[in-house]
Amino acid sequence: MCLRRLGEQAMSNITSGMGTQYSDSSKLAARARLHREFSTAEVGWFTWTARHLPARPGAKILDVGCGPGWFWPEAVAALAPQVVLTLLDQSQGMLDEALERCRPLPLASVTGVAADATRLPFPDGTFDAVIAMHMLYHVSDQEQAMREFHRVLRPGGTLLVTTNGIDNMRELYRLTTVFGSSPTDPAALAFDFDRAERLMRDRFGNATLSVHPQTMRVTDPEVVYLALTSYPPGDTAPAEQQVAFRTAIDEAFATSGGALDVTKQVGVIAARKSA
Ligand SMILES: C[S@@+](CC[C@H](N)C(=O)[O-])C[C@H]1O[C@@H](n2cnc3c(N)ncnc32)[C@H](O)[C@@H]1O
Repeated sequence: MCLRRLGEQAMSNITSGMGTQYSDSSKLAARARLHREFSTAEVGWFTWTARHLPARPGAKILDVGCGPGWFWPEAVAALAPQVVLTLLDQSQGMLDEALERCRPLPLASVTGVAADATRLPFPDGTFDAVIAMHMLYHVSDQEQAMREFHRVLRPGGTLLVTTNGIDNMRELYRLTTVFGSSPTDPAALAFDFDRAERLMRDRFGNATLSVHPQTMRVTDPEVVYLALTSYPPGDTAPAEQQVAFRTAIDEAFATSGGALDVTKQVGVIAARKSA
């Protein structure tokens, strides 16, 4: 199957069932655990990403698709003082969790709104920075989201988008073919580094990719199983496919002597709105 067709299929997998997938953070937590426990990164992903935000005291920052807000407790140490934070997610459950987590943090203020990334409820030029972390692969009209990010930024403002590269975790995704899935990260198929850079260049006239230096050495097969069955189609796969998946994971660990080295490709793409 061609890459474009795989991309379309991945997009429909990854945009379907969003209400169930993100009603709260439990499914996302299964995937986060894999990265947290087995990443080899010297500087953690959230701290490293926060260093790309503008170091301007009192900056107004919009976090689109904030999820449960896990980014902010770690990010605050890397931020300039007095940040005015606005959280936005289409899931009210995620937003509530993010607000509860972020309100005690040392920020100038924290507010939140449940809304769609393609229809941002803010006037033009409101924010110094917009950050959209690992969420655009869920959005069917990514061009429209990009138009909205550009619109709500002030002249000279910064957009940060994070996503995965096409080779991300290929040693694990190849095992998901037992579910009829592509052997490639579905998030990257829908919105990889190349697509992010292209859409941002089209809208902003510039885009710079930075890739987080890390790999993973995974030593617990169960954590792999839980992470890769936390989203469609693995989450509802029939019992015989679940058994075949466990067998494929066990074989991969046996072949690698019990520690599986996994390629990680996660990065930040930054763009600046012309002044
Ligand atoms: C993979 S989570 C990422 C959470 C967080 N940004 C992070 O990196 O930890 C994706 C989040 O994007 C939200 N989301 C998906 N599509 C959205 C849309 N069109 N508008 C707003 N939020 C959306 C989901 O509800 C979910 O909370």
